[in-house]
Amino acid sequence: MKALLELPFFYNLWRRGIARSDLNTVLVSTYARPANSQRVLDIGCGPAPILESLPRDVEYVGFDPNSAYIDSARARFGARGRFFRSTATREALADLGKFDVVMAIGVLHHLDDDEAGELFWMAHEALEPGGRLITFDGCYRDGQSRVARMLLDHDRGRHVRTQDEYLALAEGAFSSVSPHLREDLLRIPYTHVILECRKDEMGSGS
Ligand SMILES: C[S@@+](CC[C@H](N)C(=O)[O-])C[C@H]1O[C@@H](n2cnc3c(N)ncnc32)[C@H](O)[C@@H]1O
Repeated sequence: MKALLELPFFYNLWRRGIARSDLNTVLVSTYARPANSQRVLDIGCGPAPILESLPRDVEYVGFDPNSAYIDSARARFGARGRFFRSTATREALADLGKFDVVMAIGVLHHLDDDEAGELFWMAHEALEPGGRLITFDGCYRDGQSRVARMLLDHDRGRHVRTQDEYLALAEGAFSSVSPHLREDLLRIPYTHVILECRKDEMGSGS
């Protein structure tokens, strides 16, 4: 099952089957909220399903190390974005300018603490002052449904955390982080945490 999800067709099928049909719309309209013509960086973009819900005139850049996902994103969305077959690194981002919104949707729980800490710093560096990073991941919480806990235990990502653990990593780089716990974004019992991390207007870190 986990190997099948590496293939864009099965990943998209699984995501459509399990997620609320308006998941991407909720992530964009409630949390990312890019204004017209803003620059959006998507770290771990996968087949770039978020583009279904982003305004057509944002300048979109996606990074993902999975070749099949990037090929699928290029085939489907072509000129709507630039897609890089690579993990996002500071070096890879250096020539791309600054972004108004950075997203890492379903990525942090694949990264160990050092890698996740680096993602937060890299996003901070890539953002314009006042810009925001939005992350979205499965999350443990006391008293959550046994179904949710079982699914989180068997996730492809080996680093599912509690809200406080995600927060502590984000606060290493960002002084302003707002967590949003959601249990209504899949068609099955599940817990997500969305972090909204704002770079201050002076551009300084935590
Ligand atoms: C659960 S998928 C999410 C894909 C997409 N963001 C979405 O919303 O459907 C996680 C993605 O993170 C990517 N990924 C894993 N480690 C990564 C890393 N170090 N840097 C960037 N992307 C990574 C994987 O290849 C995979 O496409």
